[in-house]
Amino acid sequence: MAPAPELEAIGVVKRYGALLANDHIDLTVESGEILAVMGENGAGKSTLMSLLYGLQRPDEGRILLRGAEVRFSSALDAIAAGMGMVHQAFKLFDSLTVWENVVFGAEPRRGPFIDRRAARAQVESLTEAHGLRVDPDAIVGALSVGVRQRIEILKALYRRARVLILDEPTAVLTPQERDGLFAVMRRLAGEGRTILFVTHKLHEAMAIADRVTVLRDARVVARMRTSQTTQSEIVRAMTGRNVDLQISRGVAAAGAPLLEVEGLTVAGAGAKPLVEGASFQVRAGEIVGLAGVAGNGQTELVEALTGLRVPDKGAVRVAGATLTARDVAAHRHAGLAYIPEDRVAVGAALGADATDNLAMGFHRAAPLSHRGLLNVAAMVKRARELIAKFNVKIASERALAGSLSGGNLQKMVVARELSHEAPVLIAEQPTRGVDIGAIEFIHGQLIAERDIGRAVLLVSAELTEILGLSDRILVMYEGRIVADMARSQASEEKLGLLMAGRTAAS
Ligand SMILES: Nc1ncnc2c1ncn2[C@@H]1O[C@H](COP(=O)(O)OP(=O)(O)OP(=O)(O)O)[C@@H](O)[C@H]1O
Ligand SMILES: [Mg+2]
Repeated sequence: MAPAPELEAIGVVKRYGALLANDHIDLTVESGEILAVMGENGAGKSTLMSLLYGLQRPDEGRILLRGAEVRFSSALDAIAAGMGMVHQAFKLFDSLTVWENVVFGAEPRRGPFIDRRAARAQVESLTEAHGLRVDPDAIVGALSVGVRQRIEILKALYRRARVLILDEPTAVLTPQERDGLFAVMRRLAGEGRTILFVTHKLHEAMAIADRVTVLRDARVVARMRTSQTTQSEIVRAMTGRNVDLQISRGVAAAGAPLLEVEGLTVAGAGAKPLVEGASFQVRAGEIVGLAGVAGNGQTELVEALTGLRVPDKGAVRVAGATLTARDVAAHRHAGLAYIPEDRVAVGAALGADATDNLAMGFHRAAPLSHRGLLNVAAMVKRARELIAKFNVKIASERALAGSLSGGNLQKMVVARELSHEAPVLIAEQPTRGVDIGAIEFIHGQLIAERDIGRAVLLVSAELTEILGLSDRILVMYEGRIVADMARSQASEEKLGLLMAGRTAAS
């Protein structure tokens, strides 16, 4: 008889009130296998992962680990049984060292004392054994996202995890960091560990997974081997239709400059400014893409443009009016719409409902308010329209933003900002975490914004997105804009070189 699978879910059901989030899910993963879990926003992927990890209990169904049924009543039970999960929002202590974070809560002891020396040595040998490059003595607060993720993986391995769950682990990584993560995943699978990972990116599933399980509307609709399927087949299973992955658009008819940036400088803690003398324009009817490896000043530049931060030098003009104060409302009023990278911290209020979230920033003007009084009926009407137009999967317009799946929250923020009739739109990672159908839709909307004469600044880590949408492309490296070129002059290779600080000519 074949050995029992490492992990198995049988007929798992999870409801949130009337909403069925997991509908009799069957799933199997063998030891040493990498399984990609895919599906549209709201299909039930994160819910399933949280059931497997014991963060929630299924309403029906069973979970088996190596053939034996387990009933986790908390993540601690799951960890004790050999499960590990890397969450998207990392749970690390910034002021502690790497090794202190890894052993936290499970420290080796000598008598009543923590054996610091043994703890550090264990962490060091784990980093070496699994090829997870990280300095055990580094302070976590100073480390990049990719390194922090490695620490989360180390935490799971330190607790002897045999099964690792990664929910959209690559969404926040640079391409280089992603390749590093994939190398680690392959290595762990080679050691006989089991990995479940959620992704929206087809090429990632094809590159790293042995098999793909596709969820649609809370159910498993397909199981395939990556060696025996194609990207289009996975798309059809996820969406039930053919999605056009090519971006098609007409030529731009650029007009007057609507966003003008001159000599913008943002000082940092060190000697080197975070943004140094950035100057560029975005004209009406034009999409300008800002490319760069994360951490080269794009975030700080956008913060200075949107009023989240005061620049140390330089000027920002929106439709001719100069903006300097640190005042998001004033920037918005002057005609700037903004889709933020961090939709949870900046873009949405999770404790408020969708109606209020969709009204944010519009609530002081007609039609949503009249003589200082909110028009609730108008707010609800608007929320219903936007939810329908952007296909946000939500129980009702009164449901809390916090109950939305990751991608649906993103769609809600995008819906609100695109409905802002501002001359300038800054879109930062507008399709991060959204499914391919929504990517197609959001791309279409950005092009439509351009075509009605708005100026769009697109900041994206996805080169295919930058190349597919932009009329002009800027490249940022170490705080400076090192290139400004027409789309026709750009190629993936050229941009890659510029992003790495090399000149395209050499
Ligand atoms: N705590 C909750 N309360 C109410 N509904 C919830 C809750 N958590 C999830 N849901 C709903 O369950 C459904 C499945 O959500 P889930 O987060 O599992 O989707 P997902 O497949 O991970 O989507 P995404 O790709 O957007 O991350 C969604 O309709 C979501 O709104
Ligand atoms: Mg999710």
